[in-house]
Amino acid sequence: IKKIGVLTSGGDAPGMNAAIRGVVRTALSNDLEIFGINDGYLGLFKDKIFKLNRFSVSDVINKGGTFLGSARFSPFKIYNNRQIAIKNMKKRDINALIVIGGDGSYIGAQKLTEMGFACISIPGTIDNDVVGTDYSIGYFTALETIVKCIDKLRDTSSSHQRISIVEIMGRQCGDLTLAAAIAGGCEFIVLPEVNYDKKELLKEIKKGINKGKKHAIVAITEYICNVTELAKYIEKETQRETRATILGHIQRGGSPVVYDRILASRMGAYSVELLLKGYKSRCIGIKNEKLVHYDIKFALKNLKKNFKSDWLKTAKTLF
Ligand code: F6P
Repeated sequence: IKKIGVLTSGGDAPGMNAAIRGVVRTALSNDLEIFGINDGYLGLFKDKIFKLNRFSVSDVINKGGTFLGSARFSPFKIYNNRQIAIKNMKKRDINALIVIGGDGSYIGAQKLTEMGFACISIPGTIDNDVVGTDYSIGYFTALETIVKCIDKLRDTSSSHQRISIVEIMGRQCGDLTLAAAIAGGCEFIVLPEVNYDKKELLKEIKKGINKGKKHAIVAITEYICNVTELAKYIEKETQRETRATILGHIQRGGSPVVYDRILASRMGAYSVELLLKGYKSRCIGIKNEKLVHYDIKFALKNLKKNFKSDWLKTAKTLF
């Protein structure tokens, strides 16, 4: 391997820049040429490929977002489009690719490896829903952002003796919601991993009111229900003013926290080291603070994210 490419794909996450920097600097110190690809798989398909040098990644370690740009590009599912992407890399003699992204990006990488193109995938998403790793790049920064927002909601919800419902990102993974709810002292938690029952939630809230609670915060993962409707329902049933807040894309931005910068730097370097050792189809992760790697096909098929039921138990005890 002499020339490698790097791209960021899917929803951006704080720390992606630090990961690119890790890849670029490790590649250059091993005398490899390194190419950046704009806008994920879309850029690969559209031939937006350019050479990077050590100064391309100066002053990026503390920056949120991804300077390479990112995109969701579903036409990458089509074989012919992937063939064009591979052709674009091969005409520059690039023979390995490092993909930084979430599970959608992993599927793209797996498909490329099935076509004989070497890929290493790095978990980069705030959702922390990627298999084969305890944490993904961006998760801890998003958590900080969310908890800061919950703290602010607590101020106003306490002043007005209101119930606040806060909708948190994560798709089908409740990690952000659960951790933020514990750190933010939220009274009620609704997660995708646990059956949602509007009436049960109301019962719990009423129990809290009967215990003397003057205000409360409900943390809920996105896509479970319409939180504005839920707020109206709770207000009607409890006669307590209730407001819904959707945190939205605020959660994806901001300067990465120290842990994400270190994780990203280590994973970036590790991905290049794996290529140098001859690996061709791996996804990497961190398990008990150690970097690990798995065959990507095996990981996507067999590994599951564990739901932290013990965390939920603790959270409920603390309310
Ligand atoms: O995967 C990261 C994520 O932020 C999810 O939490 C969220 O559901 C989704 O991306 C939003 O996607 P988009 O930026 O395309 O609206």
